[in-house]
Amino acid sequence: MENVPYTSIFVTNTPDSSQDSSGTSKSISCRRNWNRLSRLQKSFILMLLLIVVSFCLITTTFTWAPDPSSVAEDDLLRNKFHALPMSHQKPSVAGRDTHGSAFSRNQRVPSKAGLPTISRQLQPDIEPSRINQHQLLAPGGRSQELQHQAAEDIRSVISLDPVIPISKLRKRQTKKPTIITMQTDYHRLKLDGPQNHRQQEVVNAFLHAWNGYRSFAWGQDHLRPISKTGQDWFGLGLTLIDSLDTMYIMGLQKEYFEARDWVDNSLSFDVNRNVNLFETTIRVMGGLLSAYHLSGDEMFRQKAEDLGTILLAGFKSPSGVPYSDVNLRNRAAHGPSWSPDSTTSEVTTIQLEFRDLSRIVNNPIFEESAMNVSRHVHTLPKIHGLVPIHITPGTGAFRMTSVVTLGARGDSYYEYLLKQWIQTGKKIDFLKDDYLLAIEGIQNRLVQRTHVSNLTFINELENNGQVLRPKMDHLVCYLPGTLALGVLHGLPQWHLDLAKELLYTCYLTYKRQPTGLSPEITFFNTEDSAKQDFWVKHNDAHNLLRPETVESLWYLWQITEDKMYQDWGWEIFQSFLKYTRVEHGFTSISSVLNPENTRPRDMMESFFLGETLKYFYLLFSDKPIFDLKTWVFNTEAHPLPVYDH
Ligand SMILES: *[C@@H]1O[C@H](CO)[C@@H](O)[C@H](O)[C@H]1NC(C)=O
Ligand SMILES: *[C@@H]1O[C@H](CO)[C@@H](O)[C@H](O)[C@H]1NC(C)=O
Repeated sequence: MENVPYTSIFVTNTPDSSQDSSGTSKSISCRRNWNRLSRLQKSFILMLLLIVVSFCLITTTFTWAPDPSSVAEDDLLRNKFHALPMSHQKPSVAGRDTHGSAFSRNQRVPSKAGLPTISRQLQPDIEPSRINQHQLLAPGGRSQELQHQAAEDIRSVISLDPVIPISKLRKRQTKKPTIITMQTDYHRLKLDGPQNHRQQEVVNAFLHAWNGYRSFAWGQDHLRPISKTGQDWFGLGLTLIDSLDTMYIMGLQKEYFEARDWVDNSLSFDVNRNVNLFETTIRVMGGLLSAYHLSGDEMFRQKAEDLGTILLAGFKSPSGVPYSDVNLRNRAAHGPSWSPDSTTSEVTTIQLEFRDLSRIVNNPIFEESAMNVSRHVHTLPKIHGLVPIHITPGTGAFRMTSVVTLGARGDSYYEYLLKQWIQTGKKIDFLKDDYLLAIEGIQNRLVQRTHVSNLTFINELENNGQVLRPKMDHLVCYLPGTLALGVLHGLPQWHLDLAKELLYTCYLTYKRQPTGLSPEITFFNTEDSAKQDFWVKHNDAHNLLRPETVESLWYLWQITEDKMYQDWGWEIFQSFLKYTRVEHGFTSISSVLNPENTRPRDMMESFFLGETLKYFYLLFSDKPIFDLKTWVFNTEAHPLPVYDH
């Protein structure tokens, strides 16, 4: 489906003009036939007509709303659909997870961000009648039936929009008169599909990627777009599940429902495979939870609970700090084959998901298991608030000789401190305190500037915190977004200054490469003799279609309203199109250094659809789509509701 413009997907009901020209002759011959009939025949026909007309009149009196099936679905469906997240419930504590993956995802960090008060203005874009309707459905302690009802209604809302059949409204009210009051902000979204050229291009790119996946790797974890095959890592349809909410947000109804039905009918957790607890939590559980909150579809909640129940096995270690891997079928948990340790960022980056699961299924076990890990890690000694990247499930202690980094295996520990604090209504102080301490540690111990252009970057810390290494993973580029999100939520303003400086550096790691794409790792020069700001090792020159910089651009744009960030993102997007797009999708490349020979890796990571393209779409929006005060994005870009405690 290469360059099919988005609009061509819509069904167009162009009237057949040929009918017009023959209209007159048809009516003449009709009249002739009528005159030929006998009087009896005529009265009989008139009688019949009368009956039909009265029947129609009676029926429409009761249900005057359009019949969904009579509307060209694609047409109506695609453009406008409003999502109403369910939200706000309560419970506490959570789960944990393990580590990383073959795909270097484990090292990646999610993002953070926030957007100030701008998004508020967005709220009232639903007509009053809809709002009432939605409030009825809304959050709080809604009962299961209500939720179920809501899920069904949502489907019709989506497909019928903007009119909700009145008959349905009545039915619901008589069936369940309970009025559920909103606790705080009601999460209303307006998802109208692409609103401008840039967003349209992102949707085109998404469809290009999706169609490759659909054709050659349907139901598998990843697409190999050049060899036109699928690749399985966990065997859980990672790309499909990571893409659900992206499609929902982009208004791709047909694709969304097809994927939704695959999850319903074909997703199975009864697989004899060791999966990484962290990756499975952020991608699969996160994707299911987010799809549930956006669509209200009960099926997703059930699947998330099934998965969560299995993953609880990971926490059965002497310390409660989870092992990295869980076998889905026999529920045995263990470390990776090469080490007894778990990864710090992994065991501390499952809490948003396990907490949300607990709250929507009303069972505290998930939240408690995961939250216990956070509480435990809080008690451990740290290095200026910073953490080594390995932790031992047996003893629950950090491996103090491990490196300290904001990149691989350390990154999202910091991210989830802030995001958990936000998710729980900013009421759990130790999360905020640990976060503030860590950011001070970063500022005082890790931040440096290059000699040539005074670019800000973040070092790693080696040898028990003794030695600085001027190496920055692309993964670190999630940090500007997280810092900005914290400022949106009231944390010190200087965090935003650091965010801006750092994001500029991240942007340059793209712009200064001949391909316009960032390498996986960049080294920086601080010496007076240095002739350039940074350099890249041959083995670090790959680009895996990672999202972190785009993610931070989105947060910074939404929080500062500075369109410069959108323009930077547009440049990066062009480079992805130019150097990573292949006939049947997008591919990682081995070198960003040589435009003549990028050495494609024949791999399209699930996070390209789940995160990178989603963040591009959000970044290019004219107005904020998500209110960052009421939604918090997990580290895989799956939006979850903010609770009030
Ligand atoms: C969490 O920790 C508390 C206190 O140590 C303990 O009582 C509780 O059983 C733990 N919960 C889970 C689910 O592990
Ligand atoms: C480098 O940048 C920092 C932060 O913007 C600024 O405070 C500092 O004065 C700059 N140093 C030089 C030599 O320009």
